[in-house]
Amino acid sequence: MRPSTALLVVATAVLLALSGADATVETTCKAAAAKDERVNYTFCVYELGKHHLSPDADAWGLAKIAANMGVNNAYGAIGDIEGLQAKPGTATKTKAALGQCHDLYDGMKFAFAGAYDEINARNYTAGKEEAAKAVSLARQCDYDFAKAGGVPSPLSQRSSYTVQIAVVCTAITDLIN
Ligand SMILES: *[C@@H]1O[C@H](CO)[C@@H](O)[C@H](O)[C@H]1NC(C)=O
Ligand SMILES: *[C@@H]1O[C@H](CO)[C@@H](O)[C@H](O)[C@H]1NC(C)=O
Repeated sequence: MRPSTALLVVATAVLLALSGADATVETTCKAAAAKDERVNYTFCVYELGKHHLSPDADAWGLAKIAANMGVNNAYGAIGDIEGLQAKPGTATKTKAALGQCHDLYDGMKFAFAGAYDEINARNYTAGKEEAAKAVSLARQCDYDFAKAGGVPSPLSQRSSYTVQIAVVCTAITDLIN
């Protein structure tokens, strides 16, 4: 095989892999959005598309990837919280809310990990319950900040991500059978 031909073969393989990836994620996200209007199609495609296993994943695999992204977001939130807790001069009320949210996001890691395990074990009802638990934990943190009064939650992006990835996880799980 001449070098140019070899390059062409590789280039074609990459192209096929990429179009395959897009097709799977996009088709699944489109079906999920059609089934559940709370699904943000753009978010779904963008977030699931980040994962290296997405190109070859079916709905079962993508639902698990969504749960996995939920775990990652919870870890990220905990990192954010610990960063804020370490900052000097944080108001007492904010500190209290941060402490509560630390526990809540800690619980969320287990909720999304539980969703992953249940979906993996094909117990979809239990998987969706775990995803719903993750959402209620995020809402509890929002509520703790609302109660603290005056300070907007520094975790609002984390909360919004939680809700969106849980919705994606649930809607894709509903596509499995
Ligand atoms: C949907 O997701 C995209 C990408 O994350 C975001 O920019 C957009 O604001 C979201 N739309 C809604 C309605 O939440
Ligand atoms: C699914 O999980 C739920 C909750 O953990 C449990 O009660 C139920 O028995 C499980 N179903 C199956 C088929 O394993």
